[in-house]
Amino acid sequence: MKKLRIILSFLLAMTASLPGANVFAAGVSSSQTMQAIQIQQFGGPEVLTIHQLPIPSPGRGEILVRVHAAGINPVDTGVRSGHFAALAAAAPPYVPGFDVSGTVSAVGEGISNFKVGDQVFTMLDLRRGGGYAEFAIVKEGEAALKPGNISFSEAASVPLVTLTAWQVLFEAGNLQPGQTVLIHAGAGGVGSVAIQLAKWRGAKVIATASEHNHAFLRELGVDVPVDYRTQQFEDFASGIDLVLDTIGGDTQIRSMTTLKEGGRLVSIVGLTPEGRNPTRNIEVSSLLVRPDADHLRSIGKLIEDGVLNPIVSYRFPFSEAPAAHKQSETRRTRGKIVLEMDISN
Ligand SMILES: NC(=O)c1ccc[n+]([C@@H]2O[C@H](COP(=O)([O-])OP(=O)(O)OC[C@H]3O[C@@H](n4cnc5c(N)ncnc54)[C@H](OP(=O)(O)O)[C@@H]3O)[C@@H](O)[C@H]2O)c1
Repeated sequence: MKKLRIILSFLLAMTASLPGANVFAAGVSSSQTMQAIQIQQFGGPEVLTIHQLPIPSPGRGEILVRVHAAGINPVDTGVRSGHFAALAAAAPPYVPGFDVSGTVSAVGEGISNFKVGDQVFTMLDLRRGGGYAEFAIVKEGEAALKPGNISFSEAASVPLVTLTAWQVLFEAGNLQPGQTVLIHAGAGGVGSVAIQLAKWRGAKVIATASEHNHAFLRELGVDVPVDYRTQQFEDFASGIDLVLDTIGGDTQIRSMTTLKEGGRLVSIVGLTPEGRNPTRNIEVSSLLVRPDADHLRSIGKLIEDGVLNPIVSYRFPFSEAPAAHKQSETRRTRGKIVLEMDISN
């Protein structure tokens, strides 16, 4: 471990001394510390404050990533407010953030898939976090090489929502070509990538969104957009093979009636009592996304092939994390929000 720290210090010092190097970019960091957003108590967006913390050292099976951009997810706001305090690592002081893109700046022992300088994107384990910082510790099994045809900001928007969609559609949901899927909140972070993945799989897609997002849904490939504010989705969806439930509550209960016999509903927001005890022959389950480097590599390939396009609607500088959380809490965001670090991409 001591040897590793020495190597890390050497690498960081070397990189910092290179012409144009920006490990310790102006106004960002000095010495062996980094800027990180650390929650010191649960609360509103104002508790997202910047602190100077030691740059962590990668242990066995870990890499240290110089963060270029961090994705914002609704779970981040739940962690910040204390709503998701049950997540083991979420007790303050805590550095939030699960989506990161950046450059590998050091590797721990036993790393075979990455080397210093690799550009990566990653979803950090929900029990750990640590993405809103200049450097983040990433387990080898959480990361994949960043697709070469997208920016760091776009890459940071991808992992958590796309892994969620992948695991719902292709694992829990076992979606097959020719089947029909109902996707709620199609314009949101999860929905906008789930639509693209379902179309790639060859499914018919019905998706809910406000009317002003329907042209956007059609661009993504949606066959039948439904305005959940003025229309009953049950009028457009019956005999459904799979429902991706991003809303819960009454939407979940009503969605169960749209399923064919033997159809599946997978919720990512928890089950209602009715969902836990369905009275029909349907399968209802809930899913919590997990990091998976194999899935991320497959997702990266789809991006490089032009099948899957990340959608970033809002980019905030690192120092404006509170504003980024306020935007997320509107629950009206199209696609994704990212925090950008003060370094050239
Ligand atoms: N279990 C897991 O592993 C997991 C993983 C990821 C996310 N989640 C959860 O899943 C939910 C969705 O995540 P997200 O990242 O997609 O959120 P998001 O990006 O914040 O979703 C925003 C979208 O939600 C839509 N929306 C809001 N209320 C709606 C309703 N009643 N019906 C249909 N659409 C509605 C809005 O559409 P319009 O503007 O068109 O109205 C907006 O585009 C969140 O609660 C999140 O915490 C869970």
